[in-house]
Formats: sequence, C-alpha cells, structure tokens
Amino acid sequence: MSDYARITGTGSFLPEKVLTNQDLERMVDTSDKWISERTGIKKRHIASDDETTCDLAEVAARRALEAAGRVPAEVDLIIIATTTPDKIFPSTACLLQARLGAQGCPAFDVQAVCTGFIYALGIAEKFIRSGSAHCALVIGAEAFSRIVDWSDRSTCVLFGDGAGAVVLEASDEPGLLSTHLHADGRYQHLLHVPCGVSDGLEKLAGKEGKVQMRGNEVFRVAVNTLGRIVDETLEANGLQHSDIDWLVPHQANIRIIQATARKLGMNMERVVVTVDQHGNTSAASVPLALDTAVRDGRIRRGETVLMEAFGGGFTWGSAIMRF
Ligand code: ACO
Repeated sequence: MSDYARITGTGSFLPEKVLTNQDLERMVDTSDKWISERTGIKKRHIASDDETTCDLAEVAARRALEAAGRVPAEVDLIIIATTTPDKIFPSTACLLQARLGAQGCPAFDVQAVCTGFIYALGIAEKFIRSGSAHCALVIGAEAFSRIVDWSDRSTCVLFGDGAGAVVLEASDEPGLLSTHLHADGRYQHLLHVPCGVSDGLEKLAGKEGKVQMRGNEVFRVAVNTLGRIVDETLEANGLQHSDIDWLVPHQANIRIIQATARKLGMNMERVVVTVDQHGNTSAASVPLALDTAVRDGRIRRGETVLMEAFGGGFTWGSAIMRF
C-alpha cells in the first residue's frame, strides 16, 4: 500500500509532418478564418504512412522515463490510452512493452477516446495505491488521422496525431489527490465511429469506419459536463477555485477551454493551451499539454494542477494533483 501516486516524469512526441489550415483549404471547402474562429486550431501534426501509434508512444515513453530517471526494467505497469491501436490484438501496450524490454509486468490498452488518458491515470493510481504496482508508465497515444474522413470538413479540420506519457510512482508525498471518471453511453451516437471489428472488416474499410460527430450538440454537453466535473473535483478535496495553479484541459476547442476557465474564474494565462498547435489529439492531448508546460518551465513542483477531459462515449473525467 502506498499513500500517494505521484508523476515523476513527463514526455511527449509529435510526428514531423504538419498540416496547416491553409493546407486544409486546398482539401475541403473551409477557411483558416472559420477553423481559427470556431476552434482555435492553426495546425496539427499527422503521422506518416509508416508511423504507428506505438512508434509515437515509444518516443514519448522513453522521454518520460528519462525525465523520471528510470529505466524500462523498473516499470511494473504499462497502460496506453488509445482509440487507434496498431493491431486488433495484442494491445499497443504489449507491443510497447516488448520494444522497451519491460516484459513480465501487466500491459494493456484503455479505450475512452479523448478521456482515455484520465481513465488510464485513474486506473494506474489505484494499482499504485493498493500496492499492486510501484512504477507505472501511463501513455495517451493516437494516430487519429487514420480514422478521420478527409472529405468531411466538419470533422477533418479538428484532429491531429501525437503521444504524451507520464511515469507514475508510489510516494509518501502527494501526488495525485483524486481522479474522477464518468461515462454515459446514451450519447454514443453524437460522436462515434459507427462500426467496428464485429461488423466485419469490409464495412470498417468504408465511410462507416471513420469519425462522425454532431459537433454543436457535443459542444453543449461538453461545456456543461466539464463545468460540473470541475466542481465535483474541488469539492472532493475541500479546495476553492483559487487553489488551482494550472488547468490542463483536453484540447478539443478553444471555446470549450475558455468556458471551463471562466467557470473556474481562471485567467487564461494559467490555462495550458496547445490546441492551436496540435488540434485535438484525443487521448494524447492532456499528457501532451502537460509535458509542454512542464518542459517550458510553467508548471513547477508543488503546484496544484487540474486536468480534465471529455470525449466519445460520452466519457469524461478529471485528475487533480500536487505536481
Ligand atoms: N469549414 C467551414 N464551414 C464549416 C466547417 C468547416 N470546416 N465545418 C462545418 N461548417 C459549417 C457547417 O456546415 C454549418 O453550416 P450551415 O450553418 O450552413 O449549416 C456551419 O459551419 C456551422 O456548423 P456547426 O457545426 O453548428 O458549427 P459550430 O460552431 O458548432 O462548430 C465544432 C463546430 C468546431 C465542431 C464545434 O461544434 C465543436 O468543437 N464541438 C465539440 C467537439 C468536441 O469537443 N469533441 C469532443 C472530443 S472529440 C473525441 O472524443 C474524439
């Protein structure tokens, strides 16, 4: 048993290829103005044809291990949150485990779309606090561009690829203070890939194998839900809005991020924003944003950080920590 689970290192990776709003203007009937005003996105990174989710996850994981001063042999749990695994099976976490040479420990994937990293963090926290693991690699990684319909302007402008990772270790000091995970499957049709493996691979190869979203309905639920989860998280810890030093939100849309910041009474200077540079990288977005702000020196040891996400399912969740 351990009192706390604490993030001891962060890492991330973005594929080299960049797709700008101007590039998208040449692909579908859209404009830089529309994308910027409605979403805040300016560009996103796209995995090359031979680059997989595991490739992205591996670089992010190695960077997080280096930052934590750990070697793969010390890792005793690997969880990857992803919607775009390399294979139907084995899990991408197993593929990564073999590459790292960390064999023997449990390794599995978690599917909660954009909330996946928060789910993975919540699961890893429980492994660590119960004494079942001491040093976990928790990763969000996506080659999300593979399930985007590049002829659908209402979705293709939103998403990008990338990976973010943390090393989570047993600690006597805080640490993660709490994680809060939720889902409501009744909303599945508002944001989904309408078919899957059990529908047959032929169907999966067509349009039904790509993301479909009723954007403005998702938007409304996301804003309300994220407001509620912020309150739930603070109440559970007896904290006030003013106790939060940094908000690290899921990076789907700058207007959703601003609405959550308003709810917290937070100046946007205390909110980590990468959506302009990365677009929505689904499960990778929170750990990518966290690593960005840790590495550029904004988020410092001892500060209180609130992470939150919302995504397909619907799923939503939060994690609050003393970094
Ligand atoms: N370029 C130009 N026009 C466009 C584009 C585009 N790329 N896309 C849509 N439009 C048009 C629409 O056709 C519509 O035209 P109409 O009025 O003539 O019918 C108009 O713009 C407005 O469309 P809306 O969908 O109402 O636009 P909205 O302001 O809601 O913005 C957006 C759309 C950006 C998708 C927004 O709704 C949003 O961010 N939704 C939430 C996304 C989200 O948070 N997802 C959750 C995480 S993702 C995951 O889990 C995988």
